[in-house]
Amino acid sequence: MYSIYRFIPWLFRSLSVFILLLFMVSGIQAQIIPVETSQNAMVFQVDKSNDLKMIYFGERLSIDSEYTYISEQYKQATDYTNVYNSAYTSAGSRNLLEPAIRLTHSDGNQSLDLEYVNHQTETIDANVSLLKVTMKDRVYPVQVELYYQSYFNEDVIEQWAVISHQEKKPVVLHKFASANLSLKGKEFYLTQYYGDWAKEMQPEESKLTHGIKTIDSKLGTRANLFQPSVFMVSFDQPANEDEGTVLYGALEWSGNFKIEMELDPQDNLRIIAGMNDYASEYKLPAKQKFKTPAFLHVLSQKGKGEASRKLHTWARNYKVLDGKGDRLTLLNNWEATYFDFNEQKLFSLLKDTKKLGVDLFLLDDGWFGNEYPRNNDDAGLGDWQANRKKLPNGVSSLVEEATKNGVKFGIWVEPEMVNPESSLYHEHPDWVIKQPRRDEHYFRNQLVLDLSNPEVQDFVFKVVDDLFVENPDLAYIKWDCNAVIYNAYSNHLKEQTHLYIDYVRGLYNVLERIRDKYPTVPMMLCSGGGGRVDYAALQYFTEFWPSDNTDPLERVFMQWEYSYFYPAISTSNHVTDWGKQSLKYKVDVAMMGKLGFDIVIGELPDEELRFCQQAVEAYDKLKETVWHGDLYRLADPKENDFASLMFVNLEKSEGVVFNYLVNNRYDKKSEDPIRFKGLDTAKNYQIQEVNIYPGTSSPLNSDQVFSGEFLMKIGYNPQVHAGRKSVVLLIREVK
Ligand code: GLA
Repeated sequence: MYSIYRFIPWLFRSLSVFILLLFMVSGIQAQIIPVETSQNAMVFQVDKSNDLKMIYFGERLSIDSEYTYISEQYKQATDYTNVYNSAYTSAGSRNLLEPAIRLTHSDGNQSLDLEYVNHQTETIDANVSLLKVTMKDRVYPVQVELYYQSYFNEDVIEQWAVISHQEKKPVVLHKFASANLSLKGKEFYLTQYYGDWAKEMQPEESKLTHGIKTIDSKLGTRANLFQPSVFMVSFDQPANEDEGTVLYGALEWSGNFKIEMELDPQDNLRIIAGMNDYASEYKLPAKQKFKTPAFLHVLSQKGKGEASRKLHTWARNYKVLDGKGDRLTLLNNWEATYFDFNEQKLFSLLKDTKKLGVDLFLLDDGWFGNEYPRNNDDAGLGDWQANRKKLPNGVSSLVEEATKNGVKFGIWVEPEMVNPESSLYHEHPDWVIKQPRRDEHYFRNQLVLDLSNPEVQDFVFKVVDDLFVENPDLAYIKWDCNAVIYNAYSNHLKEQTHLYIDYVRGLYNVLERIRDKYPTVPMMLCSGGGGRVDYAALQYFTEFWPSDNTDPLERVFMQWEYSYFYPAISTSNHVTDWGKQSLKYKVDVAMMGKLGFDIVIGELPDEELRFCQQAVEAYDKLKETVWHGDLYRLADPKENDFASLMFVNLEKSEGVVFNYLVNNRYDKKSEDPIRFKGLDTAKNYQIQEVNIYPGTSSPLNSDQVFSGEFLMKIGYNPQVHAGRKSVVLLIREVK
């Protein structure tokens, strides 16, 4: 007879094999970490040596377990390190490529080799999830947490890293990227932007070749002046509006940044993005956490158009302050008066504001400084008291007068800056960023205050706070920033290499305090143009100033490029004297975002004034769709004789189409119909031309009814030509 006990060891053995198998199987599955959004998946894999790799970023698969099969389908060149596609490449050990992180330990050793420890996913709400992956060095007590916040519907992912350690003495961080992507494709085309004052957002597209392409800024403040951190990478072919795989990227950081694109030995594209490591080694004490800013990206399989619509929706829902709210139309006095005004002149501009029909009067530069009056741009910055000669009754009398006139009042400040010709400079030379033993070097006659210093942060906060405390009805702030950092040196900091980073952190501290106290008051982010806009700053601002160049022809191109990355509701466009185009052309171009005026209303001939007044009324009817609708680009001004773009509301019951002639050569015009986009094929629409100049009439028949199908398959001709250089169409559903 066989005793049952004979089976016990076998049972044990079998059970343990089964448990091991179970563990292995579940272990393998647990090693795949997909970050999925509605269209895409970004997939990480932990291999048997605990390396964390990014194995896939593309269209999502229905069966999660099939992500494991992806890698074996690639037969690329040898990876001599096993970490070419590391999720966060650490320097100083096996790695041979550009690292995401590089540091020196407290004992002077420079090696790091991160391994996966664990991960968890938190559901923040029905649309937003946060994946945290914890990594640690195999030898030293250094940790890195990688965060991936995904927005399901918008296909946007924000990613950042948190670095910490438990070494006895500080660790020095030399490089600290926010993101390290590894992408597969046949070839990659980069669209990047360059520029200067009045020449912002000039696009350039090129095929990425082997080696490293870097987009960066070392300017400290108004960091985007020469190039912003926004870019696009198109897979396999140059970027198209409505087809192909396109990735948009941007760093949420208002200081020095560095985006590196390395086409590696396997022909994969590695993107390493973060704060610039230039002159910025960071000493990190034990247990303190170093958090990088977020790098955001959106991937679309349907070209640039869809990518930008997703990004706009995300921006309005989650980033831009009051992104789903309203905006104020305004009259600004910068180009109308420059520094030459007094109370009486401003009182009359307040009346003009009312006459024009806009919501707010914005008093620009020149209202402050007494000992060093701000009568031109070489004095007064830093002395934020109303100039007694120009404004004997202070700012408050202007706010009161505005209220009497039934308009709101806003004011310009540039609180991060100082002119050497100012009381502030003489009282607090230690608050100024400058080298102690070198000549000062100025940008627009000014220097930057040291926002790494908490005392300076208090001062900057107080500049804005005092204005609100003294003028509770103050309704708007234009926050300017017109200088870069030269001679980077802080009197306050022990570690000079912390300045570029701590400056921006100091700025965010101030903005945080302002928003705690004044959560909703609209503020414009300005810096002699687009030298500053990014999605970290836009959390505190309702809108930004794209460029001092308001020539409307230039603006057609510039706003077109900005529109890929920022929604119309955040883009301030003013009608000014720049450019030779008609007033109508100028107003039509400014309407493509947040409309403002900066012209002398009192000197407008009656007809022009009437046109502007009607335009403000017309804008009231269009703005809802422009601000909150979806943007479709129809005709690119770089490729056509005209530009055409269209906003459609979410119900697809209303659209606004803007058309502008951009080529003034003989007989240039819209010869063919322009195919509309974003409408409902099954709906019927009528098209009415709006913003018609007094005394002219439209050749378009607004009674005709078209199906959405016709308008999208055949199109519609707005009849743009030399006699009708800009045409705005309002499309409405007819039932
Ligand atoms: C910058 C701004 C302008 C204006 C001036 C004032 O150039 O971009 O709009 O505010 O400063 O000095």
